[in-house]
Amino acid sequence: KKAEIIVDRHFLIGDVDKRIFGSFIEHLGRAVYEGIYQPGSPFADTDGMRTDVLELVRELQVPVVRYPGGNFVSGYHWEDGVGPKDLRPARPDPAWQVIETNAFGLNEFVTWAQKADTEVMMAVNLGTRGPEDAKNLLEYCNFESGTYYSDLRKKHGYEKPHHIKLWCLGNEMDGPWQIGHKTAVEYGRTAEETGRMMKMLDPSIETVACGSSNLEMPTFGSWEETVLDLCYDQVDYLSLHQYYGNANGDTADFLASSVGMDQFISSVISICDCVKAKKRTNKQINLSFDEWNVWYHSNDADAKLPKWSKAPHQLEDIYNFEDALLVGSMLITLLRHADRVKIACLAQLVNVIAPIMTSDTGAWRQTIFYPFFYTSRYGRGTVMNTIVKAPVYESRTYGDASYLDSVLIWNQENDELTLFAVNKSLEEDLEISCDLRQFTEYRIVDHKILTHENLKAVNTEDHPLEVTPVSGQNAALDSGKLTALFPKHSWQMIRMC
Ligand code: AHR
Repeated sequence: KKAEIIVDRHFLIGDVDKRIFGSFIEHLGRAVYEGIYQPGSPFADTDGMRTDVLELVRELQVPVVRYPGGNFVSGYHWEDGVGPKDLRPARPDPAWQVIETNAFGLNEFVTWAQKADTEVMMAVNLGTRGPEDAKNLLEYCNFESGTYYSDLRKKHGYEKPHHIKLWCLGNEMDGPWQIGHKTAVEYGRTAEETGRMMKMLDPSIETVACGSSNLEMPTFGSWEETVLDLCYDQVDYLSLHQYYGNANGDTADFLASSVGMDQFISSVISICDCVKAKKRTNKQINLSFDEWNVWYHSNDADAKLPKWSKAPHQLEDIYNFEDALLVGSMLITLLRHADRVKIACLAQLVNVIAPIMTSDTGAWRQTIFYPFFYTSRYGRGTVMNTIVKAPVYESRTYGDASYLDSVLIWNQENDELTLFAVNKSLEEDLEISCDLRQFTEYRIVDHKILTHENLKAVNTEDHPLEVTPVSGQNAALDSGKLTALFPKHSWQMIRMC
């Protein structure tokens, strides 16, 4: 099969906001305890943070990490997790039916984020709480001093404010499973009042309103429209969440899920712009795709877990090679919407549906680590508006899906062009050609391929290198023409400068 990518240096989609490579740590399973934090472990530093995990997180260059939930946040009292550790109460967490010890809280997370070279994206509880508590939390985090909560922070040993800029107004409030689940009108009003009070206290913050928990929600569309109608002036972003799985064993369909993600993003943009038009405003709402990943491998095991334990092995998906292909495609999809998707969080970061896993003997990289690693490192710059002529296949769920998913990033600062691509064909290699006449001085400097003969191959603690990228041989850039042969079911990165 053959495909052509058409490029013009004047046709650009937009600059990549680095926060598109964000991630997520929830108080869930072993994400916090035994994940990023494990005092007493041989890998722990003096603050109890796992240094082996910090190293891998820094490798991924994650610019922002959402915290502390997820479903957890909708029943959380942040005050339980600050101050002297021996006074912190253990509480049942109804969302995940476990015991939360509160040995780790927001100050520890801020410390961890500094060590991980990342920023905090903080979520407030709009399930069991409301504007007043969100304002108190913001005062604790961002107010300089001389008020009850800012002085409390100082008393807890944090002299300087945390200056947290990004705030999620609740989590998945459209979902009947959510603690304090709301109708769109109830949530829209609460988000408006919460955002208003928070911005009165600190006008420099940015807020994210909850959109739909996934595209299949029966309220999708009307939820977004009603919520935005009510809180438009107090929010900067609208969230999207989506997880995909291959429970039916239909890999072609699974790999076509990025088509679904693309449609989801386009639909939410349309709704944001519809509300904008109705309001006759110049303010544009951008998108925060703050939960996305593959999630289904651990469902059966999770259903059998005993309740009310501490930091159980929950949501510990072991990712295979085909999952890495889809994660690569989802990253390409996010990049292709760089003009409107400004924040995205791979959910999650460690142990819980995560690229990084830990045990008592170390931390290792799951298959999905690799497309994220390369895209985060080299997917920064300006996204080019390419036209792709590629053969398509008929997928069961999404209809027509292109065999080739691709995006071209032009990093003008480094004078570098990077092509990310996935060949979704399970049977055939794909011959690629791309006219780069306007970039004649460029040469290929790096070509990485992620492929494996077994779509179900996994990395484990004992075999952590089963699925790893290799250097590609089948690409050439001669007289401004890029040609390459992308093997069947493969992820690719070609860097040129
Ligand atoms: O990331 C796991 C869970 O998925 C989050 O807690 C929730 O927001 C979503 O349903």
